Amino acid sequence: MQKLEIKGKDRLIVALDVASMDEALSLVDELKSEVGLFKVGLELFTNCGTRLLDELKRLEAPVFFDGKFHDIPNTVSAASREIAKKGVEMFNVHAVGGGEMIRAARKAADESAAAAGVKSPILLAVTVLTSMSQEVLSEELGIKENVEAVVARYASLAKAAGANGVVASAKEVKVIREVCGQDFLIVTPGIRPSWASDDDQKRIVTPKQAVELGTDYVVVGRPITKAANRKDAAKRVAEELNV
Ligand code: C5P
Repeated sequence: MQKLEIKGKDRLIVALDVASMDEALSLVDELKSEVGLFKVGLELFTNCGTRLLDELKRLEAPVFFDGKFHDIPNTVSAASREIAKKGVEMFNVHAVGGGEMIRAARKAADESAAAAGVKSPILLAVTVLTSMSQEVLSEELGIKENVEAVVARYASLAKAAGANGVVASAKEVKVIREVCGQDFLIVTPGIRPSWASDDDQKRIVTPKQAVELGTDYVVVGRPITKAANRKDAAKRVAEELNV
């Protein structure tokens, strides 16, 4: 059954795509009451390090750490141990790292969170980056199946290895649901409310369409962070997610 109990606000993950700690913290301060989680990506993390995660914890702002780990199982295990200790709500790895790597991430995160007395984070897998075209998959990487089949296979592998869900585009939600069922979490970027600019996103859906397609969480950046009234924009997106 679809997780109907999730409120619009709780489905909303705002991408903190800013460079500095000050900018990130001021966004969080402004939007915290309207938003479920904040996504910390590689730019911000490279600039601010784990001090940012400590600050966000102090502000009681739930974090999706979008570090997309992909390395040998031992290294991903160690990185997962460290990130889970920080009390993040979600983090992710690349499914293409394989089952052993995903299992290592799951085990390390569970053990480390328990030792630190925090909740074990949701582990997400990235299937095929949406920036990858069929041509790149086939010509450069030698993967001859179509993108959807690869996404389905990677999602299924991630689930079997202990991931709680995947990051996926709206158009992949259907096939992931078919393969992984209703309880597997799907986090979808590429979201544009009808009133916002597309920016550089190509295959966009509105927040309402994303939920109707069966996603659990949406990642929204610029339509909120670049809005004239950011709080109001977040509120409007959250309302639309109340499907
Ligand atoms: O500003 P915008 O809403 O386009 O930001 C979307 C966020 O989701 C960015 O942080 C982007 O890196 C991320 N993302 C994406 N598409 C993917 C995976 C992640 O847009 N396939």
